[in-house]
Amino acid sequence: MNEMSVITRKKVKELLLAAPGQEVLAKGWVRTKRGNKQIKFIALNDGSTVHNIQVVADMANFDESLIAKVTTGASLAVKGVLVESVGSGQAVEIQAKEIEVLGECDPMRYPLQKKDTSLEYLRTVAHMRPRTNTFGAILRIRHAMAFAIHKFFNDKGFVYLNTPLITESDAEGAGDMFQVTTLNLENVPKKDNGKVDFSKDFFGKKTSLTVSGQLEGELGATAVGEIYTFGPTFRAENSNTPRHLAEFWMIEPEMAFYDINDNMVLAEEFVKYLVQYALDNCMDDLTFLNNKYDDGLIERLRSVLGIEFQRLTYTDAVTILEEAVKKGTQFEFPVSWGTDFQSEHERYLVEKHFGKPVILTDFPMAIKAFYMKQNEGCAPGRETVRGMDVLFPKIGEIIGGSEREASLEKLERRITELGMSRKNLEWYIDTRRFGTVPHSGFGLGFERLLLFVTGMANIRDVIPFPRTPKNAEF
Ligand code: 4AD
Ligand code: MG
Repeated sequence: MNEMSVITRKKVKELLLAAPGQEVLAKGWVRTKRGNKQIKFIALNDGSTVHNIQVVADMANFDESLIAKVTTGASLAVKGVLVESVGSGQAVEIQAKEIEVLGECDPMRYPLQKKDTSLEYLRTVAHMRPRTNTFGAILRIRHAMAFAIHKFFNDKGFVYLNTPLITESDAEGAGDMFQVTTLNLENVPKKDNGKVDFSKDFFGKKTSLTVSGQLEGELGATAVGEIYTFGPTFRAENSNTPRHLAEFWMIEPEMAFYDINDNMVLAEEFVKYLVQYALDNCMDDLTFLNNKYDDGLIERLRSVLGIEFQRLTYTDAVTILEEAVKKGTQFEFPVSWGTDFQSEHERYLVEKHFGKPVILTDFPMAIKAFYMKQNEGCAPGRETVRGMDVLFPKIGEIIGGSEREASLEKLERRITELGMSRKNLEWYIDTRRFGTVPHSGFGLGFERLLLFVTGMANIRDVIPFPRTPKNAEF
């Protein structure tokens, strides 16, 4: 077997494009083995592509006992000659000279050997599902999108800012935070008034996992101009839906001197860039997913590129939805001015009414976070803020953002109105005290983007190890 190390191993992706006639070394995992007493056909995959390379083993050259160990899931090193394939489906195959079984795989115990290959079943074996074509494709697309995100912002001169994961501020004010503590929960230290004594805790104060890096992002943007964050985000909302995770990744650009229109232009350019990047670089994997799960996928991806997203105020959207109800559309949740839209309303606007992505703006102040810029001249009871949500087909909200309130006075008033603790926010308010500027930003949910790009229906299937209520396995 020493000879095997003389030739450098080529990945399956390269081998499938290589010229026949050369000696090659391939390594990977067995997907299937078939054939008869004289000849065996082994489909080998190494995760570099959704396609397998076919290894042909002439049984005149191999021990029966060796080939018996070549079972689905086993890992192999194969040396041989790359030859033109006679069978259809692949251009080349490996005529094996030597086969080494690197790791055997007990067919009785291998979790992917089961007949059940449903996405639900695969979630229960999330530690093994990357070995399937479906999850190989998803992981490669996920990587390509992460790379494209960095490339997009780097090319524009944005600075990648790392914001803290442990924080004392609830940026979104929704209160859905996971507490971080080293206090002994069996014996929590209490103050005289009976409240928990957080001065005894690790940080000397109550801390949680972040729901957003935005507030710290604003500190960066008001110093170096344009930043983006890209990191994990945690929300303890008890939403068991196909679109919510308790731990998800978010990209949050924040730009000094941008108003809401600049913000919308950037958001639209950004998602179109990512979709185009996927079409340009992930076509094999997209074609596989299109054929296996969603035959409208590639068409849907293309459909968002050539058009301008529909821009629409919240108030106009309410009118459209109310008209729809009058004409007989049934929604589970009622709509009227002041209510937050549900995904069914968002999807109605995108899929039924406009037939393209929608950028909603100018939401009621009461349903949005404290930092959004307040609109001038609103009728009493109809106060709105310069929020901006990008809604996508099949998904609903994929991006949430806003122009930020740049006025110290208005920001302080809003913080007081909402009864928020100022003590934890003085550092944030400093951005408005010292050289405040108009600025804007948004957050793209990375897994929501991946739902759109892969066509998967459940967000648990676009992250390697999903965290959802009552589920933190692996
Ligand atoms: O709309 P959200 O809550 O906005 C913010 O967090 C702002 N601080 C962003 C900003 O302006 N910098 O969240 C932004 C996006 C949503 O549009 C959605 O795509 C995603 O994050 N998101 C989730 N994705 C998966 N699971 C969840 N539980 C999510 N909550 C929000
Ligand atoms: Mg939102």
